[in-house]
Amino acid sequence: MAKNPSNSKILPIYIINGPNLNLLGTRQPEIYGRATLGEIEKLCAERAKGHGLATVFLQSNKEGELVEFLQEARATASGVIINAAGYTHTSVAILDAIEMLKLPVIEVHLSNPARREDFRHLSFVAKAATGSITGLGVNSYLLAIDAVAAFLAGPQAKEKTRKKK
Ligand code: DQA
Repeated sequence: MAKNPSNSKILPIYIINGPNLNLLGTRQPEIYGRATLGEIEKLCAERAKGHGLATVFLQSNKEGELVEFLQEARATASGVIINAAGYTHTSVAILDAIEMLKLPVIEVHLSNPARREDFRHLSFVAKAATGSITGLGVNSYLLAIDAVAAFLAGPQAKEKTRKKK
């Protein structure tokens, strides 16, 4: 795993979690697994530390608050990982906020929405994200950290990779 030698200068990765994810552990464990959000937060911090990166782990059940986290990230994050949960499938406001970020943005889901109900097949987040990692449980988050770290270490970091639609 590539380490980041100049970790002090690199802004943290924002990991933003949407509605009902605060109840992970007890919420439909057959779909979302048994890890709590607190446990996921710890695992993410450890994984990022291995890359010389820090994390800011956030959760809200409110759409507007998620938009505010994304706006804040413009100035204070090196990359964003977002599980917008139910808002993934409905929120133009979250799409618009992601469009404003000039950072790598990885969409994550614990489950694989493509294998579930039709209404979960549309992702407004995916329309603006750099990439998406879904269906791998907690590993979706950990692989997203690896993806942000690889992005920050590579030549893409200096380019704007997300196209306007
Ligand atoms: C989810 C998938 C969404 O469809 C759902 O509304 C969630 C969780 C996931 O991580 O698998 O709340 O984002």
